[in-house]
Amino acid sequence: MKQVVLAAYAKGNPTVANFRVEQAPMPEAGPGEILLRTLWLSLDPLIRFAIDEVKLTGATHLSPGDVMYGGTVSEVVASNHPSYAVDDIVEGRTGWREYAVVDPAQADYRGPPRKLGPEVRPASAALGVLGMPGQTAHACMIGIGRVQAGETVVISAAGGAVGTIAGQIGKMLGARVVGIAGGPDKCAAVEGLGFDACVDYKAPDFADKLKAAVPQGIDVYVDNVGGDVTFNVLPLLKYRARMPVCGFIAYYGMGLTGPGPDRMPGFMRTIMSKGLEVHGFGGSMVGGEQALTDLARWLAEGKVRLAETTYKGLDSAPAAFAGVFGGNRNVGKVVIQVAPDEVVAASA
Ligand SMILES: NC(=O)c1ccc[n+]([C@@H]2O[C@H](COP(=O)([O-])OP(=O)(O)OC[C@H]3O[C@@H](n4cnc5c(N)ncnc54)[C@H](OP(=O)(O)O)[C@@H]3O)[C@@H](O)[C@H]2O)c1
Repeated sequence: MKQVVLAAYAKGNPTVANFRVEQAPMPEAGPGEILLRTLWLSLDPLIRFAIDEVKLTGATHLSPGDVMYGGTVSEVVASNHPSYAVDDIVEGRTGWREYAVVDPAQADYRGPPRKLGPEVRPASAALGVLGMPGQTAHACMIGIGRVQAGETVVISAAGGAVGTIAGQIGKMLGARVVGIAGGPDKCAAVEGLGFDACVDYKAPDFADKLKAAVPQGIDVYVDNVGGDVTFNVLPLLKYRARMPVCGFIAYYGMGLTGPGPDRMPGFMRTIMSKGLEVHGFGGSMVGGEQALTDLARWLAEGKVRLAETTYKGLDSAPAAFAGVFGGNRNVGKVVIQVAPDEVVAASA
């Protein structure tokens, strides 16, 4: 079977040279174990934390030669465990490989593989709107952001998995929702999902356009990015604005210190003088089961639309993951279809 391993620790943003596609022997399920065939692989920016030489935040840290870490949707092809049957579809974290053996009794901090019912279709949605990014978007808007009707919400990385879902929830809650994304095409796609406006952070007049898009100021800023984007948002925040810090992808290649200049004093001044509520969080923990229940209902009612970008084959994973960190055309959740079309169709 095929798998992708870490070839070398990433310095800065990841490139294809950080990964190696290799062949490995087919694993076999031992006592109490299940054999999974990967259907879909999730490419989450947070994987970047696991492939830095220095152990940063995050529960997982890899060494060169290790199979890449990642969320997956798989079908059970052999089972020696009473809770799992052949043909079950499960969501877990089996990594960048075509097959994996899992001992459900040795589950990681997020528990044993989650069995997906027929309501989770397409099954890849378990990696996006009906999974961790959906829980995170729910947390941004409801648990942490406490978005109210009539408020103005700004969302960075609005075209990403979390941003596309968060914006749609914001519209449902009756807020004015402004996205920030890279390039006119991506902004058009974001507006196509119902955002009131989307501002291109790569355009030279970004700061002016953003200011014009939020005439009343900003009540809630969902930050997925950090960096220059956030420094342009800060002056537009209203007194006592909420700022759910969901991610900071502009800094993921920098470890714990950036090259400067040090803009921390201005940030601290803004937090204090505006009484900002800046709140970092783990989305799956805050959103929890309630988020999955709400999102499944909103999806069924057509209030939230599924947005996905699909790449095919495990070989595409290194370049697709490198692309997440800039210059991509992705809209919504980025997934790799690992199994061939006929296998995926048979499990749909
Ligand atoms: N707290 C949590 O539990 C949690 C859970 C999930 C995700 N996150 C974080 O939330 C953020 C979004 O995640 P996601 O799953 O939505 O990611 P995603 O679908 O992969 O989208 C990420 C997007 O970020 C934008 N981006 C990349 N580098 C950028 C830069 N330097 N400046 C501005 N934008 C940049 C890119 O869009 P453009 O083309 O528009 O540049 C990219 O497509 C990430 O920071 C992620 O790590 C946190």
